[in-house]
Amino acid sequence: MKQVPVISMKKICKSFPLEIGGQQQVLFDITFSINPGEFVAIMGPSGSGKSTCMNIVGALDSASSGVYELYGKDITTLLPDELAKIRNEYIGFVFQNFNLLPKRSILDNVMLPLMYRGLPIVEREQRARAMLKLVGLENFETYLPTQLSGGMKQRVAIARALAGDPKLILADEPTGALDSKMGNEILKFFKKLNKDLGITIIMITHEFEIAKYANRVIHIYDGRMTYDGPVPKTESVLLKSEKRAHNK
Ligand SMILES: Nc1ncnc2c1ncn2[C@@H]1O[C@H](COP(=O)(O)OP(=O)(O)OP(=O)(O)O)[C@@H](O)[C@H]1O
Ligand SMILES: [Mg+2]
Repeated sequence: MKQVPVISMKKICKSFPLEIGGQQQVLFDITFSINPGEFVAIMGPSGSGKSTCMNIVGALDSASSGVYELYGKDITTLLPDELAKIRNEYIGFVFQNFNLLPKRSILDNVMLPLMYRGLPIVEREQRARAMLKLVGLENFETYLPTQLSGGMKQRVAIARALAGDPKLILADEPTGALDSKMGNEILKFFKKLNKDLGITIIMITHEFEIAKYANRVIHIYDGRMTYDGPVPKTESVLLKSEKRAHNK
């Protein structure tokens, strides 16, 4: 049986209106599909369009043209509130700055996305506790985010992302606010989630050392894909792909 890709993007373009009039095109013909169980890094220099691409993948924004299918469903032209529903059901987000509610306990933070699912509170609590255990924070459920280290905060964010049993985890520079030791711990944890539980992960990064944790790299340069394949042995392969695109 043919596998339905988690994500299928065909010729996605994105333009933003310019204040002086006209449009600035930021993404050009982005085309890729991602199958269940993949761990993909989207890499590229600052300003290349990674976050713009991620916002479209995450149903936070829509493309100007092209077709985007999430789990076989065409979501290209959905309205913002329809997109919000899709987001809540299909996608778990992990951000650079954790985005935790500072005045709510760790347990509350993990329970929050489940509220929109209409689950009874007992089930929400059970699920959130199981997720905190999965990330090794079962003894911290009454703590506030400010009482935790950066690495622990990111693990809470991962527990929250996993709580809704998403089809996909989207992580935008998930180790950007962490020192390298904590960053490595988080990356190893992502690797484990992907390997042991088969969770599909897309991670944005501008660092090759971080992209190495993934199994596949999509490299973006100036809004165009210049490489899509296994993680190469050295970064020079990606840099050469940039150069080729630049000289075209
Ligand atoms: N809402 C917006 N309106 C206008 N231009 C935008 C908007 N969002 C992004 N851009 C432009 O799109 C381009 C790509 O930005 P994007 O944030 O996707 O890059 P990035 O690869 O994520 O960079 P970084 O590594 O610095 O986060 C930039 O030139 C940026 O100025
Ligand atoms: Mg960005």
